Amino acid sequence: MSRRLFTVGPVEVFPDTLDSMNRGMMVHRGKEYQDLQHGVVEKLHKVLDMDMDIFLAPASASGFLEGCVRSAVQSKLAGLSNGSFGDRWQLIGTENGKQVQKINVEWGKALRKDHVAGKLEEGVEAVTMISNESSTGVLNPIAEIVEGVREQSDALIMVDGVTSVGSVDLRLRQLDPDALVFGSQKALALPPGLAVVCVSPRLMEKAAKVQNRGYYLDLMQYKKMADKDLPLTTPPVSLIYGLDYQLDKILREGVRNRFARHQRMADMVRGWAEKRLGLYAEEGFRSNTITVIKLLGMDFKDFDRRLRQKGFEISPGYGKVKEETFRIGHMGDLTEKDVKDLLDVMDEVREEMK
Ligand SMILES: Cc1ncc(COP(=O)(O)O)c(C=O)c1O
Repeated sequence: MSRRLFTVGPVEVFPDTLDSMNRGMMVHRGKEYQDLQHGVVEKLHKVLDMDMDIFLAPASASGFLEGCVRSAVQSKLAGLSNGSFGDRWQLIGTENGKQVQKINVEWGKALRKDHVAGKLEEGVEAVTMISNESSTGVLNPIAEIVEGVREQSDALIMVDGVTSVGSVDLRLRQLDPDALVFGSQKALALPPGLAVVCVSPRLMEKAAKVQNRGYYLDLMQYKKMADKDLPLTTPPVSLIYGLDYQLDKILREGVRNRFARHQRMADMVRGWAEKRLGLYAEEGFRSNTITVIKLLGMDFKDFDRRLRQKGFEISPGYGKVKEETFRIGHMGDLTEKDVKDLLDVMDEVREEMK
């Protein structure tokens, strides 16, 4: 049975978007493909309001989280974490043989400037940080964190925008990060399988000096090809058709309107949760794409099973708060009407469970 997804990703992909991908295949070494990739990059520049180099890879977002570390860090990075995905990027660092200074903050709380200002160790070449921590539902104030890093260091700034790109204003021109990574299956409302990274000239200069960058996710290899509007390896052409379609849709809606819609959906879900169970994330730093709700002893398996029977799917808790929380995704092309339907059904199910 098909269900309506209020998950944290992959998220609901609407039929018109799926249809846009249902096109004949093309070979990717030629003008037709180059025009498609060129157009997509131009539209991403508009949607994200910046003009960084942009590379696309057949991978999930983690591919480029690893690609950034391998391509632009020779020995040492600092990894900021207040949840599972912050921890994951630290792990990507250590598993690639880099030294990682871990700066860990209590889960549910936001990372702040004070956590990093004056705290970076000698030799840190890059600082990794998560914009929207999907395990806790915290939207970190990236701008102030970056300010804290820059006051002390010229380390590269690497931002995981996996569950924030397309839903909140990251003010990229002011932020001027060295890398921003995201994937297709979150707020862009596409199927999974396409990773995107935006990079600065500073990062590319550094990458040119790094040894053993590998091949498949080497940003230097990507740059050579992207400068000619070409992919490094065989690209997921269908997903790129879909991305092209979604970017047009976003531009038609208007980026600001899209952000406002995400704010309204988040307000609805938070309002519902606050009255019934309580929110996990610190007030003032709550995500506009994912709400993490306390279970307070509610049987999630039963709740989830009943919701599925009624045609709705949400997400369980993640990482070390898996048993205490559950998560609702409200991103992409979902509307307030969709969210209202979910909230009504969740009330119905809670009533049944009494
Ligand atoms: C914040 C964040 N970073 C990274 C990832 C990993 O992304 P992917 O599964 O596309 O590799 C996720 C996935 O949920 C995420 O939410």
